[in-house]
Amino acid sequence: MQIDNNLIEALKDSESIVFFTGAGISSESGIATFRGKDGIWNKLRPEELANFNAFMRNPEMVWEWYNHRKKIIHKAQPNAAHRTIAEMQNHFKDVTVITQNIDNLHRRAGSNKIYELHGNIERNFCINCKKFYNEELDFSDGVPKCECGGLIRPDVVWFGEFLPEDQFLGGERAAMKSDVFFVVGTSAVVYPAAGLVYVAKQSGATVVEINIEETPLSSIAQYSYFGKAGEILPTILEEYKSIINT
Ligand code: APR
Repeated sequence: MQIDNNLIEALKDSESIVFFTGAGISSESGIATFRGKDGIWNKLRPEELANFNAFMRNPEMVWEWYNHRKKIIHKAQPNAAHRTIAEMQNHFKDVTVITQNIDNLHRRAGSNKIYELHGNIERNFCINCKKFYNEELDFSDGVPKCECGGLIRPDVVWFGEFLPEDQFLGGERAAMKSDVFFVVGTSAVVYPAAGLVYVAKQSGATVVEINIEETPLSSIAQYSYFGKAGEILPTILEEYKSIINT
């Protein structure tokens, strides 16, 4: 795949790089996306699994599903796309990840500046007193309860819930400051997360889309590369390195 020279030039003049990622970046690690061909939401109903009322109606079923996802995530490894983003930290002053993913793979790949817009499956908290429980939970007596008696839930953002303010505002600041804003593996249909791309665009960032197919963002991105993130991101970094080392 040919990488546009102007993009490499834009990277050469950049200090602040942002990667806005979605489920597509983890698909090459064996984690299903939500809306793609084999997407989770084609088989399961988000209103029965990913919202607070569903949890209160049937916490066992919701936990069964999150424990199933946790098993898949624990078996998964960060792929070349996650690793390339982490390696970018060696080449640019300020590299930020803004992710919609709850799978912790960016952190496991070595990225250290991460805003998690939709939470993280490795964390849990009490719905009553908000106490956090990040150790492995015990399900031997059914759905785990807090010492206050409240149900413990995964620290993920469900449909109809607000995003964690500190994470969203942090992402927004990074978007405003970004020189190059990569949009990787997201269908960009879920808001307010997808709105950050427009914040970056309006702040003058060069927007680069990487996806296996076109999305609503393809029209606003200066550069769109259609293919697998695990192949395209390493190519962009290699191309950049070859240019700056000549
Ligand atoms: N490389 C690049 N893009 C890919 C790859 C890949 N290997 N595989 C799939 N994609 C693209 C798909 O074409 C699709 O556009 O990734 C995107 C995944 O989109 P979704 O499944 O809609 O996931 P995402 O955009 O992250 O969903 C946003 O919706 O369900 C909620 O909370 C959930 O965070 C999630 C949010």
